Amino acid sequence: MHFHYDAAWQRQSSRINPRDVTRPQGTKPFSGDVTALLATGTESHGDTSLSTVEGRSCNTCHLEADSYKATFKKPWPHFVASVKTKTGLDRITAEGMVQFCMISAMNAKPLAWDAEALAGLTAFVLDRHKKVVEK
Ligand code: HEC
Repeated sequence: MHFHYDAAWQRQSSRINPRDVTRPQGTKPFSGDVTALLATGTESHGDTSLSTVEGRSCNTCHLEADSYKATFKKPWPHFVASVKTKTGLDRITAEGMVQFCMISAMNAKPLAWDAEALAGLTAFVLDRHKKVVEK
């Protein structure tokens, strides 16, 4: 019996609520100058305090612009395999992807929808996306 419970719990815990990676209606992102947001985002991308895992930041897995899978090149919102598996969503925005990796890879809570760090990281991801697509 106990085993069954453990297995069920593990399946549950690997799931991510689609609401945590989808901007709620009526909320607004932190707004700022694109250049300033990009600078904030570049800093946040290496910020280990965003993760509960010691020494981990987005840079741990995405230091290089080519650290993403092929789906990254598609126009947003697009299909991402692990997003489909864990949330059931067929498509995710760049911002949603930041939240997804905050939960799944940084082992943390999603950022506040009006957080400067979320806007910054999203600007960073969109900038990389543009560079990768244009290559
Ligand atoms: C422990 C490793 C790890 C960390 C840390 C991490 N990610 Fe990811 N990330 C992944 C993996 C693995 C994928 C590929 C998922 C897939 O394709 O199913 C991914 C995919 C992505 C993608 C591209 C998805 C696509 O195909 O379009 C973006 C954007 C992204 N991560 C952003 C971030 C941001 C921002 C952070 C920091 C908040 C971060 N990641 C932290 C492992 C990580």
